[in-house]
Amino acid sequence: MSISKLLNIQYPILKGVMALISTHKLVAGVSEAGGLGILSSINLEAEELREEIRLTRALTSKPIAVNLMMLSKNRDQQVKVIIEENIKILTVSAGSPVVYMEWLKENNIKVIPVVHTVQKALEMEKIGVDAIIAEGSESGGYIGESSTMTLIPQVVSQVKVPVIAAGGIADGRGLVAAFALGALGVQMGTRFLASEECTIPPGLKSALLKATDTSTIVTGRKKGDAIRSLKNEMLEKYVDLEFSETQEANLEELTIGSYRRAVVEGNIETGSLMTGQVAGLITEIKPAKEIVEEIMKEAHDVRESLKI
Ligand SMILES: Cc1cc2nc3c(=O)[nH]c(=O)nc-3n(C[C@H](O)[C@H](O)[C@H](O)COP(=O)(O)O)c2cc1C
Repeated sequence: MSISKLLNIQYPILKGVMALISTHKLVAGVSEAGGLGILSSINLEAEELREEIRLTRALTSKPIAVNLMMLSKNRDQQVKVIIEENIKILTVSAGSPVVYMEWLKENNIKVIPVVHTVQKALEMEKIGVDAIIAEGSESGGYIGESSTMTLIPQVVSQVKVPVIAAGGIADGRGLVAAFALGALGVQMGTRFLASEECTIPPGLKSALLKATDTSTIVTGRKKGDAIRSLKNEMLEKYVDLEFSETQEANLEELTIGSYRRAVVEGNIETGSLMTGQVAGLITEIKPAKEIVEEIMKEAHDVRESLKI
């Protein structure tokens, strides 16, 4: 079954969840555009999540999703709100939703976890999820080892549920490539950072537009918590220190609160904006609707012009 049919959306384009950024304006913008907007629940009290869902629904009557972060302490209360507010699509990050599966299925909620390996994809299929988002290491944010090019076909070959490709997709070429690898949909984060509806400070959007193919950096590889962000002096220093004899506390001191510093305060010197490698492809800030429609048109043209 196509992703559009499964999720009752017009185009097979999901806007990946982005902590502190995936709030009602951007989520509604993408859903209104015919894609799927996904609300972030990270750090939200249950009633704050309810309010965000309601604010989003005030802007669109099209389907929206919520992301559940399995590391959240109040996730039980968040799941309760998701059910009470009649959300029908849940993406899940940083762990298995197995403890909630029965409850979610009783309420007809489609469950779509994010994975970085074939093994996790197989585990998720076993517990009865409806689709899988396989995210390659080109992506912004927390990353695994495999690239999208290698991960997607391996996951597709091993699971029967639909696979949605994430990581390194920002235009119609990327969408067609993902489909050629066997995906039935795509999830994009970085492209939507440069959308009109995205609420990050303007300085961050400008920095994103200036990015090239080498503008991202991965921190945290040593401790196994790799995160891809837009390169700056602070993060370059972090990587130097990471592989030195320095204490973990010195590293933490550098980056503590740095994501919030970037996306809320607009500080690009000592803040860290999670960003994917595809940033170098993004040259314009556009409304979500234009982004989605251009990608679909380009995908159509690319598909027609393939000479293999
Ligand atoms: C700024 C930013 C914040 C993100 N925050 C989260 C998050 O909180 N949880 C999560 O599962 N993924 C997060 N991601 C990953 C996205 O949901 C998405 O899968 C990813 O951006 C896709 O790759 P791309 O950046 O190449 O488009 C984030 C990505 C970015 C760029």
